[in-house]
Amino acid sequence: MTSTEAPIGIFDSGFGGLTVARAILDQLPNEDIIYLGDTARAPYGTKSIPEVREYALECLDYLVDQGVKALVIACNSASSAVLRDARERYSVPITEVILPAARRAVRATRSGRVGVICTTATATSLSYEDAFAAVPNVQLFTTPCPLFVDFVEAGITGGPELQAIAHDYLEPLQLADVDTMILGCTHYPLLTGVLSYVLGDSVTLVSSAEECAKETFAVLNDAGLLHHTPRQASRRFLTTGSPEKFEGIGRRLMGGFVADVEQVF
Ligand code: DGL
Repeated sequence: MTSTEAPIGIFDSGFGGLTVARAILDQLPNEDIIYLGDTARAPYGTKSIPEVREYALECLDYLVDQGVKALVIACNSASSAVLRDARERYSVPITEVILPAARRAVRATRSGRVGVICTTATATSLSYEDAFAAVPNVQLFTTPCPLFVDFVEAGITGGPELQAIAHDYLEPLQLADVDTMILGCTHYPLLTGVLSYVLGDSVTLVSSAEECAKETFAVLNDAGLLHHTPRQASRRFLTTGSPEKFEGIGRRLMGGFVADVEQVF
């Protein structure tokens, strides 16, 4: 039986899911977490959906074997590839990044014109189109932005080159006159400054990381699986690649909460 004492398992292709982990730590500070980043096989966003599915299920199996009380699929590409399978395969509650962000965007839009920026894998899977399929009066415009992940991992979150690329990527969404845009990739919350600078204040940005953390709170609360009193929570960080690299990039991107990274597989 699932126990309140067990940790929350958070999975991502690599580092980007740390934006989700940070939102979860902010909103659920008393919870233990185990974060697994499949950095040895990242990026997922340039791979085929069957390939992403195989890798993601292997990582989720690993987290379930660690006895987690819930799974958070903190990766848009992986959520696109495995969500339905994962819900059938595991008995613990599962949250992911796509549906919570889609719901928030539906509530935020006034014009009914919503943009989503994401990896090529997420765009190809049509997962956001599926999420919006039953929503009346909302039109979705999807734009893959593959270079953004490389910029973030190189530590570049501003400057003329990135700004020029952001202009090119976002132009179709500006021409479509969207009033709300989903950051449909875990790395993109780190680009909020440049995205909002290019798009202007009139476009509401929806972060899938924040929305996923809220959903995780709600699901665990409803299942009676949350700690409600202050406690010293533990945080484990696992990677399939180099722990040193994970710790270096993780600390740089996330301001220091990543430590003692262990290698698995
Ligand atoms: N985590 C991935 C996502 O949200 C981005 C990085 C990758 O391509 O692996 O789609």
